[in-house]
Amino acid sequence: MPDDSAWTLIGTATPRIEGRAKVTGQALYASDEAVANPAFAFLVTSAISRGHIEGFRLEQARAVAGVLDILTYENVADQAEPQPPHAPGGETTTMQDAHIWHDGQIIAVVVAETYEAAREAALAVGVNYAEEQPSATFDSLGIEEQVREPGEHKDFEIGDAEAAFAAAEVKIDARYGTPTQHHNPIELFTTTCAWHDGSLTVYEPSQFVYGLRGALAKQLHLDPKRIRVVSRHVGGAFGSKGIPSARTAWIAVAARRLNRPVKLVATRDQGFTIATYRAETRHHIQLAASRDGKLTSLRHEGWELTSRPSDYNVSGTETTARMYACPNILTKVNIVHADRNTPGFMRAPPDVPYMFALESAMDELAEALGIDPVELRRINDTGTDPTNGLPYSSRSLMQCFDRAAAQFGWSRRDPRPGSMRDGDWLVGWGCAASAYPANIGAGAARVSLGPDGAAWVQIAAHDLGTGAHTVIAITAADRLGLKIEQVTVQLGDTDLPPAGLAAGSNHTAGIAAAVALACEDIRGRIARAATTSNDGPFAGRDPATLTLAQGQLCGPDGTAEAIADALRRVTGGAMEAYAENIPQGLPADSMTKLYSGQMTISRGTGRKDVTAYAFGAQFVEVCVHSRTREVRAPRAVGAFAAGQIVNPRTAHSQFMGGMIWGIGSALHEATEIDHRAARYVNDNIAEYLIPVNADVRAIEVIMVPERDDRVNPMGIKGIGEIGVVGMNAAIANAVYHATGRRIRDLPIRIDQLL
Ligand code: MOS
Repeated sequence: MPDDSAWTLIGTATPRIEGRAKVTGQALYASDEAVANPAFAFLVTSAISRGHIEGFRLEQARAVAGVLDILTYENVADQAEPQPPHAPGGETTTMQDAHIWHDGQIIAVVVAETYEAAREAALAVGVNYAEEQPSATFDSLGIEEQVREPGEHKDFEIGDAEAAFAAAEVKIDARYGTPTQHHNPIELFTTTCAWHDGSLTVYEPSQFVYGLRGALAKQLHLDPKRIRVVSRHVGGAFGSKGIPSARTAWIAVAARRLNRPVKLVATRDQGFTIATYRAETRHHIQLAASRDGKLTSLRHEGWELTSRPSDYNVSGTETTARMYACPNILTKVNIVHADRNTPGFMRAPPDVPYMFALESAMDELAEALGIDPVELRRINDTGTDPTNGLPYSSRSLMQCFDRAAAQFGWSRRDPRPGSMRDGDWLVGWGCAASAYPANIGAGAARVSLGPDGAAWVQIAAHDLGTGAHTVIAITAADRLGLKIEQVTVQLGDTDLPPAGLAAGSNHTAGIAAAVALACEDIRGRIARAATTSNDGPFAGRDPATLTLAQGQLCGPDGTAEAIADALRRVTGGAMEAYAENIPQGLPADSMTKLYSGQMTISRGTGRKDVTAYAFGAQFVEVCVHSRTREVRAPRAVGAFAAGQIVNPRTAHSQFMGGMIWGIGSALHEATEIDHRAARYVNDNIAEYLIPVNADVRAIEVIMVPERDDRVNPMGIKGIGEIGVVGMNAAIANAVYHATGRRIRDLPIRIDQLL
């Protein structure tokens, strides 16, 4: 256990500061927030996937005791605009009209005195549909395919990949696929809305409270200042709570109609269709190499499934094109429209599916070349981004491979497939690379320092269970020379200075920088007061050389004065600082966009002079039963280099969680679709398989030290997503090594190995 009473520095392993509140039930999740006299909402969702509603039969529902209101497009269509689309190409309406875009779309909201009455009435709502034949997924009749337009994402055409492939000595030409996946955070999708004098308060778990506020303001034609969004603790999100969903505005409308707070807790199965998910993808990869293992051609074409109107895509070719030195690169992404809800981001959105394809293909290439898979990565390692010639800000890919390989015992691997056995079990060892771009967002923070040395940090950051409270406290304690218990953190509330979308592994880098800047303002004011006043040990010194450490104002020669004494010189003992931080390379209007709730991060740092990624390497042992073909993954080692780690303790949990998720992704998870009805069939966590304790044995995490002064001033690359990225391919590669069977479609289940 770390010593809680120690002075806290960035990089100190620190228990969650909100941990006690969580385990004692004191921590308030959105649906726990007390509102006076709430009514309860239950959603009615579409039973068809394509068509429109001809009318409702509501008599039975209205007859249920306690029913207060039933919202449908017939009575509220003009009360809220559709939520802003999260990708170009258009929006889906819900109760703005009678149109049905997908199965499980919100078509009515029943409000009642109790949850039970609302549910009973919702189940009694009759709907007359005009149904059309839906298109469910790839290969269905009626899908529409388009080449992705250049927009937020890029594709690459470097050299002549086709000619190089045709001329190559060794080549791989293979197709891969990944399934629909759903985040399934333990905390369900909830919304509580309360109006007061024309102002709205929304309690909802969110990865971006300012974004939700901005979207609602547009939908409800309200001044954003009249909306407050509160999201103090979030019970898992993984991307599913980052994009405004249709439900929120309708709960606000319901509360306004009733003039009474309304609370919604959507059910688990509704969560599959009222929020986003990871799109199904397909890949065609062609790799070519010379006999010595040097890549000569990389072609990666992807297909991503989305809804009818939305062009949502993740375009992971931006990562796969950058992984290895290669003179000839050609990438392309296609969008396939079907009658489905619009997908969105889910943990390492581009990198999980696209790196599964590339890192599987690299393993196939290693086999074809007779070169060890780790050595193949070494031969093609590069310090230069092959897509644009820029240097990597830092790149420790091979350090990760070497550390993880040593820990795993890779040198003891017999490369022949099927050669390693343990009784009835075929044993396979596989590895793969991980990568994730180092993103950053703008942010603002307010830091107050009291005469007792206690600090109070306010920033509308988001703690998705990942440890944001604690990294904020660590950063403030580090910069103000305090102990962790002297810092109070307030986040998740649009009454606080804004922080960006907590996604894309950007949050720690962005919020720590804003907090550090506010702390620097405080340090500077204390130091200036100390050096310009006539009394005290620092009179006449250069304030830039003074630091706050261990409860003291310190000079470089060891001169020190208690902060409390130094503070007295400033303001009579208490001070407050507000700082806005726009990282280098982000647009000058980032802060304005942030206040209005527009996203201010995209892929990358925004910097023009370096390419910045975190890298990792993952090694997995699988056991495949020789007769039943049951697959187990008893051992995994991951090594990651992601610049400065602010809190190694919660970082370890994040990496481990990502690797466990990877076991699920490779071996368990898939949202199954009824191809005739375009409907999810396993929309519950009994049938949507995720790893349980028995599926997870040894998970070892190695944090490879990495100092990166170029990525951003604090050297933080972010760690939230890279833990999952390489796992799919590492497991597929291990299954190949165990069995000689190359499985190119996830998840890898018994039926594919029989
Ligand atoms: Mo995460 S998928 O970037 O919310």
